[in-house]
Amino acid sequence: MAQTPIKALVISISDTRHENDDVSGVTLIGLLLGIKAEVHEKLIVSDDLNDIKDALIRNSDRDDVNLIITTGGTGFSPRDNTPEATLAVIDREAPGLAEAMRRETAAKAPMAMLSRAVCGSRGRVLIINMPGSPKAVSECFEVVKPVLGHAVDLLAGRGKHS
Ligand code: MTE
Repeated sequence: MAQTPIKALVISISDTRHENDDVSGVTLIGLLLGIKAEVHEKLIVSDDLNDIKDALIRNSDRDDVNLIITTGGTGFSPRDNTPEATLAVIDREAPGLAEAMRRETAAKAPMAMLSRAVCGSRGRVLIINMPGSPKAVSECFEVVKPVLGHAVDLLAGRGKHS
């Protein structure tokens, strides 16, 4: 049974999206509220590698956040820097989460193979990359939803099996 509340922050990574058309970020907030997570903020950050790194570092140092989900910038375009930024800031990779999102969704959405999304932890904060489309966000969230509570418990030092 999870004991640690999920305290989430959403980062939409895009050079072109703004508050009025950030559909994937809003979708993610709805999905998080649907599992009773506290959603503390939603940010939009450019595709610049250093902007993404700065946002991840600054927000994973907050006491009121234990989960950061990013959307966008995981593909093959020259400006898709989210995986590199995430790898640069995490202490430990959590490959099972990224593998599961690709594996479980690729049967219906073969383009899932084109996402280079990375997941891992920085301190006690779990960082999950998701692709940029609202459809992909919904599909990927379904996959990781069942394990998010236990993941943040473990990172908080709770919930370890005896
Ligand atoms: N994953 C799922 N589950 N469903 C999708 O529709 N779209 C893909 C992929 N992952 C998709 C998906 C596409 S079309 C691309 S190009 C890559 O994610 C990278 O997307 P991004 O650059 O917006 O992160």
